[in-house]
Amino acid sequence: MDSRLARAVPVTPLITGNFADCLTAGLSRSPKEIPCKYFYDAEGSRLFDAICALPEYYQTRTETALLRRHAGKIAALIGPGVEILEFGAGSLRKVRILLDALEAPSAYTPLDISGAYLAEVVRTLAADYPALRLRPLVGDFTLPLSIPALADDPRRIGFFPGGTIGNFTPDAARTLLRRMRGVLNGGGLLVGVDLVKDPARLHAAYNDAAGVTAAFNKNLLARANRELGADFDLDGFAHYAPYNPTQQRIEMYLVSLRRQSVTVAGRRFDFAQGEAVHTEDSHKYTLDSFRGLAAQAGFRPRAVWTDPERLFSLHWLES
Ligand code: AVJ
Repeated sequence: MDSRLARAVPVTPLITGNFADCLTAGLSRSPKEIPCKYFYDAEGSRLFDAICALPEYYQTRTETALLRRHAGKIAALIGPGVEILEFGAGSLRKVRILLDALEAPSAYTPLDISGAYLAEVVRTLAADYPALRLRPLVGDFTLPLSIPALADDPRRIGFFPGGTIGNFTPDAARTLLRRMRGVLNGGGLLVGVDLVKDPARLHAAYNDAAGVTAAFNKNLLARANRELGADFDLDGFAHYAPYNPTQQRIEMYLVSLRRQSVTVAGRRFDFAQGEAVHTEDSHKYTLDSFRGLAAQAGFRPRAVWTDPERLFSLHWLES
């Protein structure tokens, strides 16, 4: 498309967390931790897109196939004229399948924590969907949200793909779903959820041969070096991502390979040899355990779709 004809789509900032404060607070705790939402600066969002294309990372491929395969049925359940509110919109690729299947979608509101990346990908979407009303929001959906209704007040439905709900403990996931339900004003939620399966398969998905997940994990340290003038030696930490089968979750850590001190935002942090920084949990569900959780959050679980291998699931929840 001729770039002179491209629409300018301003990105509206909502409230987001503060990396410096969260990082220094997390490194002061025992055990040390860094909230996983800080993976997603522009570089981290790009690394995550590379993860999605890995042979071992079945999630994206499987969910995209489910969306394509059931787009007609999903569109019929959602109905015409809706505003789609996407939580953690990332590359904006999956929503295209919905936009192409829905009857006269009224607006698309992608919410993402990575402002620079969102501004970049919104330009491409705006060029490909010239008639679509777009309202990109930079924000943190883990914080209480209020998203004003559009002037003509279209019905709002939520889209939360990717299995991101797995990054919350079941308790926090319940709270988050309840909050999303509040923001949807009576509308439904289409949510993607990764399923429990052979631990070897899960382990491979978070320990890829090309080392992209390791680079994604270490991007937290690289980001601190870039943004906060920290002096992390990336080779001084190992990516470690085991599956915990009793908690049914992948746990991600950065483990210090030696005794070392690091300066972050002018403060010194000491790491013992073998000391871990917890960076992410990715919980896996069964079809029924997730439907139960959604019901506890006040939703009525309706349709659910899964692939023949039962790797991933897509749930349509009504308010
Ligand atoms: C986008 C949060 C669903 O947990 O699988 C990928 C993030 N972490 N590899 C996931 C991730 C390591 C991903 N989510």
